[in-house]
Amino acid sequence: MPGTATPLPRVHRDVVSFVRRSTRMNASQQRNWEAHHTEWIVPLAHRATTTSVAAGQPFDPDAIWGRTAPLWLEIGTGNGEACAAIAGRHPEVNYLGFEVFKPALASALGLIARAGLTNVRLAEVDGIDALRHWIPAGSVERIFTFFPDPWHKARHHKRRLVNPDTATLVASRLRPGGSWHLATDWADYAEQMREVLDHRDDLVNAHRDGDGWAPRDPARPVTRFEQRGLDAGRTIRDLVYRRVPPTPPGR
Ligand SMILES: C[S@@+](CC[C@H](N)C(=O)[O-])C[C@H]1O[C@@H](n2cnc3c(N)ncnc32)[C@H](O)[C@@H]1O
Repeated sequence: MPGTATPLPRVHRDVVSFVRRSTRMNASQQRNWEAHHTEWIVPLAHRATTTSVAAGQPFDPDAIWGRTAPLWLEIGTGNGEACAAIAGRHPEVNYLGFEVFKPALASALGLIARAGLTNVRLAEVDGIDALRHWIPAGSVERIFTFFPDPWHKARHHKRRLVNPDTATLVASRLRPGGSWHLATDWADYAEQMREVLDHRDDLVNAHRDGDGWAPRDPARPVTRFEQRGLDAGRTIRDLVYRRVPPTPPGR
């Protein structure tokens, strides 16, 4: 009878750094997805939400890439411009990109397939959840977070990807000496990154002897998001933080 169906139980969702968007793909994205997803997308089991990652799945580089190599991760690959450029310049690393928005992943697949990159894999997941439940501690050499969603309104700042909790998680996944590379075109987010990251015990600003801002990484291409910031006259800020090992007890 209409109107009497039992409502589905609501799934509890933590505060996340993204919004659910349409998964509708245009014709070219659809073609990319169909032609390439089995080769480049890592299939993962989820919990209740499609962007979550079920715990207990082994992270096995040999199964994913057919080799063990230094691991570089990117959270929020968007259309894959940085991913394709950086992985293309560094065939010696295993590069894994996390993105929640399927049409963007499909565009990234097109770039990666055209470049014939064999060292890249992508996963359709919340990168934070993937770090928490899938990526082993101390296993990552570099993590990239370029132009994370700015979440401008003060009441939305809690959704910003860079916050004390994610910093603790990211630091725990980096191997000692490993690094977290960030870029943003929003001045207040850049300042927030400095406030969150500059005074931690597990990370050190690689450019603390200068003004704390990193020079632009030449491997990072100008993406659509960066260009939008440049066109609007905003300053692009790069940051690099290195994982410092915990001080051994008794010292
Ligand atoms: C502003 S775009 C920037 C994309 C890309 N990094 C660039 O510079 O062109 C931010 C992207 O991060 C993705 N994103 C946001 N939070 C995420 C998360 N927790 N895990 C994976 N992707 C995320 C969004 O879907 C979006 O595609």
